[in-house]
Amino acid sequence: MHLNKFVSLLKGSNFDGAFISPGTNLYYLTGLRIHEAGERLTALVVSADGDYRLLAPSLYENVVREFPATFWHDGENPYEKFAKILRELDLLSGRILVEDTMRADWLIGILKLGGFELHPLSVLMRELRMRKDDEEIKLLIKAARVVDEVFEEILSMNLLGMRERDLALKIELLIRERSDGISFEPIVASGENGANPHHAPGERKLKKGDLVTLDYGAKYRGYCSDITRTIAFGKPDEKLAEIYEVVKNAQENAFKTVRAGIKAKEVDKAARDYIAEAGYGEYFTHRTGHGLGLDVHEEPYIGPDGEVILENGMVFTIEPGIYVPGLGGVRIEDDITVINGKGKRLTKAEKELIRL
Ligand code: CO
Ligand code: CO
Repeated sequence: MHLNKFVSLLKGSNFDGAFISPGTNLYYLTGLRIHEAGERLTALVVSADGDYRLLAPSLYENVVREFPATFWHDGENPYEKFAKILRELDLLSGRILVEDTMRADWLIGILKLGGFELHPLSVLMRELRMRKDDEEIKLLIKAARVVDEVFEEILSMNLLGMRERDLALKIELLIRERSDGISFEPIVASGENGANPHHAPGERKLKKGDLVTLDYGAKYRGYCSDITRTIAFGKPDEKLAEIYEVVKNAQENAFKTVRAGIKAKEVDKAARDYIAEAGYGEYFTHRTGHGLGLDVHEEPYIGPDGEVILENGMVFTIEPGIYVPGLGGVRIEDDITVINGKGKRLTKAEKELIRL
């Protein structure tokens, strides 16, 4: 529960309040498990004076016990109740932060209630969310341990001849056995499909000579991990074997660059320059990484435009890749935290090319 921290930040800002609909921000602030309310209006109202109230459908009466809340029943007009909360918290006008992902129909309904100047919640929330406290780091470590274990399990399976989609399903089951669930749909990209960084696993069967990229993640009490490993079946194409070494070294280079006080873009540059010098610059087509937390993609983004200055407690991925159309691809991804001023890997699975 980080609501007190958020209220302090809001007090010191030039915003008057915030409207926060269900999602990871609501969970982060309140610990309430209202992830998806569907079409029923649900929002936490926070004022810079430190008052707050949740409007929720009566379905959640048993979930929301100790938290100041107003409930509405099906058949009632939730916007009337929302307006009442705004009157009581003196928020019928002013500079208001709104959850970035609030449904448009809710926002349109809310806009009719008062005269607000709206801004995205992320402008303030990112300052909190990208700095993890010790409890959050513990959960991120557990999520990372799950994906390391799953990698060991994958290596022990008989993979040759398996369809990509069947392996993706197996990975999902292995994750679900050990955690709250997947942090995104697993990617299994074999052979030439490896040239597509976000390949959707399909009918192609894993065969001798393939490089196969596996990218998957777990959620542990809401906190996400995200790992990518590329493995080989038999002896891979010489060019792909060379590409593997380039990506591995680029990833290590970027990792070694991590320290508190540098900009995120310097980590990106370390990977990007290495790959460019090896002659594959045009085939590294995405940023080097992204922050990890309750969302699998969040601040700080590790890209050429990453101006965030790294600090202790930040957690992000380093995942350079090289993708050659018609041939295949390689990506290697670890989860990293900054601790005692330096980078530390949370994911520890083997990074030398594994040949099965
Ligand atoms: Co990934
Ligand atoms: Co990632």
